[in-house]
Amino acid sequence: MNKIDEKLKTVKDEVVNCHKCSLFKTRTLPVIGQGSHRAKIVFIGEAPGSSEDKTGIPFCGQSGNILTELLDSIGIRREDVYICNILKCRPPNNRNPQTNEIEACISYLERQIEIIKPKIVGALGNYATSYILKKYNLGDKIQGISKIHGKIFKVKTSFGEMKIISLYHPAVAAYNANMRSVLKKDFQILKKYNEK
Ligand code: URA
Ligand code: SF4
Repeated sequence: MNKIDEKLKTVKDEVVNCHKCSLFKTRTLPVIGQGSHRAKIVFIGEAPGSSEDKTGIPFCGQSGNILTELLDSIGIRREDVYICNILKCRPPNNRNPQTNEIEACISYLERQIEIIKPKIVGALGNYATSYILKKYNLGDKIQGISKIHGKIFKVKTSFGEMKIISLYHPAVAAYNANMRSVLKKDFQILKKYNEK
């Protein structure tokens, strides 16, 4: 195993045994992340839903099908990107993540980003967008997602410059063709980041 794989494995082992918030008691499987450890694009969702909780795979239900379709539309395979969430364990009945749970869990995501060193992070939905903008000192840029979706933010990280793009959560496109076309358009912006 090389260094990147080893470091991600350490994160995984810690999440599997994590009791830092009470969600470990009600979840079935933790959902750590899936995809290329050398991804140029990392997607961050909110938290596992019921399909994810059963399989341990992020975005494997209805939202996941939409995400895969959006990636297809720009010629990128799921295996080429890395997909994970703010929370690694499912909140009961898909309730919203609580602040204390995000605070307890967030270091895992931070480490995943530091290890993978993506060119760009796609923040899916409001939770991911607010978290990631705050984390990189762009808290003053936080606005409703209808205002900032599709915008690129440049940030400095320990591994150099990284970009962030705020995107609607794929779930909003499930029953709304309009949203689906907005998402499709925003995904076009991502295309070039997967190139060399
Ligand atoms: N919604 C999310 O935010 N994440 C998942 O993994 C699935 C649905
Ligand atoms: Fe640990 Fe995160 Fe699961 Fe809470 S949600 S138990 S902090 S892995």
